Amino acid sequence: MGSYVQGILYMLYWHASSVLQKLQEKWRGNNTSPAAAAAMYSSVVGGIILDPAMMALPIDDHMVHRGHGVFDTAMLLDGCLYELDPHLDRFLRSAARARIASPFPRDTLRRILIQTTAASGCRRGSIRYWLSAGPGDFLLSPRGCPSPAFYAVVIPAEYEQCREGVRAVTATKPPLFATTKNVNYLPNALSIMDAEDRGAFAAVWVDDRGFVAEGPMVNVAFVTPDRELVLPEFDRILSGCTARRLLALAPKLVEDGRLTAVTPRNITADQAKRSLEMAFVGSGLPVLPIVEWDDKPIGGGKVGELMLALSDLLWEDMKSGPDRIAVPYN
Ligand SMILES: Cc1ncc(COP(=O)(O)O)c(C=O)c1O
Repeated sequence: MGSYVQGILYMLYWHASSVLQKLQEKWRGNNTSPAAAAAMYSSVVGGIILDPAMMALPIDDHMVHRGHGVFDTAMLLDGCLYELDPHLDRFLRSAARARIASPFPRDTLRRILIQTTAASGCRRGSIRYWLSAGPGDFLLSPRGCPSPAFYAVVIPAEYEQCREGVRAVTATKPPLFATTKNVNYLPNALSIMDAEDRGAFAAVWVDDRGFVAEGPMVNVAFVTPDRELVLPEFDRILSGCTARRLLALAPKLVEDGRLTAVTPRNITADQAKRSLEMAFVGSGLPVLPIVEWDDKPIGGGKVGELMLALSDLLWEDMKSGPDRIAVPYN
């Protein structure tokens, strides 16, 4: 008992250098983790951090103890950031809805994201970034948080185009800030855990009107029996950058007669289950065919050629399309 109490007291009075040493030991022990961030920007520190042990948020940050923050992501493929601007626009829309002011103008945020990516040396993965009400007095109101904070991390990942199909299950979607990409993803995390428990990749959320909404970190797309590509409207779900890009690119398949139309419109779960093909759509996939939904096959239980063709269009766009920013690595 004596040594236990002594141990706690010892820990309480650790100096900064010993804390840093402990954190560095922890990270060295974790160095097999493929998801260890390669670089972090923190406006609290005022610069880029390359030591994973120092990639930390202040515990008094309103995003940490009250979930008052928004985030977004951009994919990094072959040294280029894909569709950074649409993601950044959505990020600032989310921040405005969450009443978080940015500490920097948009141009500066953009520059920081590109420079942090360059500093990471990472060529494939993603950059994820947050705006938070910032550090303060631990109270519910952010009035005691004088300066909003901006954080970003570069996360290396060896992702590839998806060519295999996955299973999906239905879940009802809690109507929680669906259109704002805020950090309260507890329902989303619980939903994906439930889907995984049920042997599926993710759930398809169905709203209170019976319409298909989205997945917990993806949009969904359907090819109807008359070969119309349908994506649920974005008014009650997250306006997915990948889904929007898909809507822009898919008319190519209408031109060559493979699809009859491309339509953003709501579709009931019953209608959707009669689709020829179905897929999750989102950054990093970009199209993941669904071959089974609630234990029933979609399109005969096989990956369909139209979703693969749409996947090719998006993958090609990520590799050589117009909305890519070449990262200026040293
Ligand atoms: C709830 C939700 N829907 C859809 C998406 C897909 O959006 P995007 O294509 O911009 O990645 C995401 C992405 O994280 C999400 O969290």
